[in-house]
Amino acid sequence: MPKVQIKHLTKVFGKKQKAALKMVKENKSKNEIFEKTGSTVGVYDINLEVNEGEIFVIMGLSGSGKSTLIRLLNRLIEPTSGQIILDGKEITHYNKKEMLDIRREKMSMVFQNFALFPHRTILQNAEFGLEIQGVPAAERQKRAEQALENSGLLSYKDQYPSQLSGGMQQRVGLSRALTNDPDILLMDEAFSALDPLVRHEMQDELLDLQQNVKKTIIFITHDLNEALRIGDRIAIMKDGQLQQIGTGEEILTNPANDYVENFVEDVDRSKVLNAESIMIPGLTLNVDSDGPNVALHRMQEEEVSGLVAIDGKRQFAGYITSDAAVKARREELPLRDVMMDMPTVKPDTVVSDIMPIIYDAQTPVAVVDDNNKMRGIIIRGAVIEALAQTEGDGQTDAE
Ligand SMILES: Nc1ncnc2c1ncn2[C@@H]1O[C@H](COP(=O)(O)OP(=O)(O)OP(=O)(O)O)[C@@H](O)[C@H]1O
Ligand SMILES: [Mg+2]
Repeated sequence: MPKVQIKHLTKVFGKKQKAALKMVKENKSKNEIFEKTGSTVGVYDINLEVNEGEIFVIMGLSGSGKSTLIRLLNRLIEPTSGQIILDGKEITHYNKKEMLDIRREKMSMVFQNFALFPHRTILQNAEFGLEIQGVPAAERQKRAEQALENSGLLSYKDQYPSQLSGGMQQRVGLSRALTNDPDILLMDEAFSALDPLVRHEMQDELLDLQQNVKKTIIFITHDLNEALRIGDRIAIMKDGQLQQIGTGEEILTNPANDYVENFVEDVDRSKVLNAESIMIPGLTLNVDSDGPNVALHRMQEEEVSGLVAIDGKRQFAGYITSDAAVKARREELPLRDVMMDMPTVKPDTVVSDIMPIIYDAQTPVAVVDDNNKMRGIIIRGAVIEALAQTEGDGQTDAE
């Protein structure tokens, strides 16, 4: 069961909702709709599911409806129509009290610009969520101190927010959101105000956190690199409408439309595409049971100049070239004696890390998993092709 489900969720700000909705259906632009009706379409007909334990990123330009969408989730904004389903239960019609409980126990929000209380100490800030839940003073202090300790901030507990750097303030914001141990963290541009180095650090911290505590995280950003770095899946929005949902790989390799394609054009693909996405099946040979004649026959048949060697347990072993097989036949050697080393990478090694390896290699590069099984091979041309493919899929020169 998905952790969060959204069905046909729509929010129109303003009075003439019917007229505005009619115009959206006619594909009128947001500006046109606003000029005619005075209403703004915040989000329109959003359908998506977020799985337990994933980092789901919502991206889009300013005004595309990201904050509206995340605030609809915990109903800080009331939907115009559609459903919000949490752990299989529809919460769209929960009353105020029920929603308060959900916000206290299930979802916490981390805001942009930290949103700490300036006149409260760091500890008092961290205690805030528990305080509104009515947790007794001694207990909430203990839990808040624990949360601060986890993020390395305990020694600052008696200071005030203005005395801390931006990065530290956002860490406090994150601890505060975590003190009540929510299942879901909603993060609206939480790192956008930080300088690049601190931002990178915070992204790492979030990834660690998610590894350790397995929260479901819904994370808004307008930075594609941030989205690709931390998102398990990414949703791209434009003018309140969803354009595509997918992994970073899927979005880069298969943009759903021109808008998404333009959006991702400037990305450094070599840092996102990985071995698995550019490998081809490797033809194999069993060095423990096959001999040189079998090897040469297979190479001729398949029109290749080498084969990946695996052993009797189907474990990756090395590489046999046609020259080596000829030598083995002539000198009556077992194939193992003429086998070459073959460089290996993991399935998730990114292309930028594969490039220097493939550059120096005498053979293709083997993609080998943690169990030493060969998953595929990478040839030099595939790397170049992957990096060149910014103009859409499969474009070839016709003439
Ligand atoms: N309370 C409101 N009343 C009227 N219009 C609103 C309200 N809140 C948001 N909007 C409009 O809804 C649209 C989506 O706004 P939203 O804040 O969700 O965008 P965003 O993607 O979060 O943008 P940003 O990246 O700038 O934060 C915008 O056109 C905005 O002007
Ligand atoms: Mg916003």
